[in-house]
Amino acid sequence: MSHSGDSPHVIDPPLKGQRALVTGASSGIGEGIARALAGAGASVVVNYRSSREDAERITSEIVECGGTAVPIQADISKPDHCGRLFDEVQSALGGLDIVVANAGIQRDAAFTDLSLDDWRTVLNVNLTGQFLCAQEAVRRFRRQGHDRGRSAALGKIVFTSSVHQAIPWAGHANYATAKGGLKLLMESMAQELACEKIRVNAIAPGAIKTFINREAWETEEAKEQLLMLIPYGRVGEPEDVGKVAVWLASDDSDYVVGTTIFVDGGMLLYPAFREGG
Ligand code: BGC
Repeated sequence: MSHSGDSPHVIDPPLKGQRALVTGASSGIGEGIARALAGAGASVVVNYRSSREDAERITSEIVECGGTAVPIQADISKPDHCGRLFDEVQSALGGLDIVVANAGIQRDAAFTDLSLDDWRTVLNVNLTGQFLCAQEAVRRFRRQGHDRGRSAALGKIVFTSSVHQAIPWAGHANYATAKGGLKLLMESMAQELACEKIRVNAIAPGAIKTFINREAWETEEAKEQLLMLIPYGRVGEPEDVGKVAVWLASDDSDYVVGTTIFVDGGMLLYPAFREGG
């Protein structure tokens, strides 16, 4: 962490001067990440697909708090949208240091009821969309060149994965397949690109209180069931993930490459084995 030139007592925020894109940032975990990056000093593009009003509200709130944020529409599962998104990010922020490839959806169904359409839609957004954004990000980082005064890395990519990159999930085969694929996409990219000082990592959230999983926490009964899967005894909040994203995007994690950080209150610890086994 660097110190401001004028006063040795003022510590700069960890992402001061950095430019970030967060996809799927108009709600949920993406919103939490965008707010946290902005709070840590980054200029942030809040990407959204359809919720323009929400994206505008989030950006104005960030600006009111003294931050810099711009909403930009794009459906990241479409290659031409991705290209345009990165062009608009370049015009809006003048460059790019951090990409949080976060956009994700669920279309749940029992295995034999899962339509080909819902299979493809989830894979297109949660896996192909992440791939398209990451590929575009790497090309832009290379073109931009390395400003070591801004960041120790040439560029940072953080994927939003899920505990379901590791935990099989009945009734959600499309989602778990996409997240399992994302794990090896992230690791393969990290291995290939580390020599260029591009850091690629992932965050794997567990149950975070957002619209996507509202059925799992909005009634007392559902919440009680959910908490049985969370040793730490609470449902997560978007801020829990935002804080980890700030760290993974900052120079504080400069030696962290190709890692998944689980932010899940211990969900991965086979809580059913607390008794028995
Ligand atoms: C899913 C949520 C789910 C959580 C834990 C996430 O990746 O999007 O719906 O609650 O995993 O199972």
